[in-house]
Amino acid sequence: MCGIIGYIGNKQALPIILEGLKRMEYRGYDSAGVALFNQEKLEVIKKQGKFINLQNELKSRSITSSSGLGHIRWATHGEPSDLNAHPHTDCQNKIAVVHNGIIENYQELKRWLASQGHQFKTKTDSEVIAHLIEERNKTVPLEEAVRGALNHVKGAYGLAVISEKEPDKIVAARLGSPVVLGIISQGEYLIASDVAAILPFTREVIFLEESEMAIITKQGYKINKLNGAVSCHQPQQIEWDLDEAEKGGYDHFMLKEIMEEPETIKASLRGRVVLEEGGVKLGGLIDVLEQLKKIERIYIVACGTAHYAGRIGSYLIENLTGIPTEVEYASEFRYREKPLDKKSVVLAISQSGETADTLAAIRLANQQDLLTLGIVNAVGSSIARETKAGVYNHIGPEIAVASTKAFVSQLVVVTLIAILLGRQRNMPKAKAQEIIKELLKLPDKIEDVLNQKEKIEEIAKVYESANDFIFIGRKLSYPVALEGALKMKEISYVHAEGYPAGELKHGPLALIDQTWPVVAVIPQDSVYDKTFSNLEEAKARQGQIIAIATANDEEIKRIADRIVYVPKTLEILYPILTVVPLQLLAYYLAKIKGRDIDQPRNLAKSVTVE
Ligand code: F6R
Repeated sequence: MCGIIGYIGNKQALPIILEGLKRMEYRGYDSAGVALFNQEKLEVIKKQGKFINLQNELKSRSITSSSGLGHIRWATHGEPSDLNAHPHTDCQNKIAVVHNGIIENYQELKRWLASQGHQFKTKTDSEVIAHLIEERNKTVPLEEAVRGALNHVKGAYGLAVISEKEPDKIVAARLGSPVVLGIISQGEYLIASDVAAILPFTREVIFLEESEMAIITKQGYKINKLNGAVSCHQPQQIEWDLDEAEKGGYDHFMLKEIMEEPETIKASLRGRVVLEEGGVKLGGLIDVLEQLKKIERIYIVACGTAHYAGRIGSYLIENLTGIPTEVEYASEFRYREKPLDKKSVVLAISQSGETADTLAAIRLANQQDLLTLGIVNAVGSSIARETKAGVYNHIGPEIAVASTKAFVSQLVVVTLIAILLGRQRNMPKAKAQEIIKELLKLPDKIEDVLNQKEKIEEIAKVYESANDFIFIGRKLSYPVALEGALKMKEISYVHAEGYPAGELKHGPLALIDQTWPVVAVIPQDSVYDKTFSNLEEAKARQGQIIAIATANDEEIKRIADRIVYVPKTLEILYPILTVVPLQLLAYYLAKIKGRDIDQPRNLAKSVTVE
């Protein structure tokens, strides 16, 4: 998730673009840049790191331009650097592009463009757009050139383009990434990824729909479909204040990020599955594919929520590949006294890519010359750099301290890795196709769970005064229970324990009485009956049962006091759905209690101490 902005009108563009970028800083902080016309010549200024670096760079510059573009980056392809920052330009430095999204077929396009003589300056996927437009712009005007270029692009984009040849025009387009047009006055317009960037200047906006283009000049704007058909839009008034706008209208980043989960899944799958072949393509693992064929053991190292994703990952990998897989808390991994087997791989899972304990575990494995891999969200982070290969989540920054969308994405990515390893061994194509087909359905299924958020809020109200919760599950649902308990502890400050359902009777059952809500993760899977019996034990001690069950499970009504249903899916994919009600339950309980949800006490988003 990056942020794009463009301004055209009768004022100085630079201060307006900078104000807009500041409002979108939460969308990325790897680098920022602007493109403006300095005495009719296109000038691009970009800086790695936080937005403040760009601001400092611009202090000594005087650029008078009444149109321009800006970008705030969350890296996906190409490490965070001055060079890889946007805007990107064509060979002649006459066309500038800002892009939010991922171009799936950029390698193919780059090869073709290189064969036509184009010279690339960066490692990004986005740069190909500038060159594709340049190629077309040789024969047709900018608007047509952008349209023609986008015809060749597969992937997702929210983008804006300016050109020295037509300086009084911005062409913007969207497919899969948001673009909003802000109408400041007749002849003065803004285009941005986010209303937060527009609100300081106007409340009158038009949200572009999928496959639409906006062509904006000082004379007015028009919105077309990418195929050239005219679109009709009425401007709408935004009522949000600035703070709400950053959070997409939600009260907290945590809720916004939970609500983004359908998109998170799409982003983590984008360009990575080939249904017809039952195949998985993970660009970050290409260099180690041969080595992966020979591995005999996997150690997953991670902390907190990422560790629970790892526990689910270990079930998946063992189940789909037969490779023995162990999961360790990264903070404990270093105390192993035995040398690790050389045919082992150490796989780190980390949203931030900076967690000190996980990094230390990777360094230990590197010292022993093992193959190290990462599942990381932050491109260019320490873990991404120090592992030998890996897969990015591609889900944009996670701002709330409590990790939610990253967990869902980690599960998706670990499933993809399991399919890849499985197909290298003896997983039949049909089995891989079955999983891929179901993965592709998950965004809609998560949407179904999110639609029940009011019901989950009601459940939180019922148990508002409970002092303790116990979360239980078996097999794949056990780590989900652990994650549900962690979420509740960290943001609502209510004591919660996660337990394997089968272990209740070996001790914790003594705690259960009518004051203890028992949250059971009980989808219809291979251990349903056993978990059900464990719930009977809790019910017999007057425990209050909140069940996360599969749609149409009538039997559960016999025992549960409250039920949240999730759609049916494959057993191995249930955690991606069953965790969502638990995230929402923790969120609403914390909200009722008036906690500082996005920044809970004593915690930090990136834990860089051991
Ligand atoms: C819990 C949470 C933490 C992190 C843990 C690892 O909601 O956010 O438990 O999961 O600190 O962080 P990363 O994934 O950045 O390594």
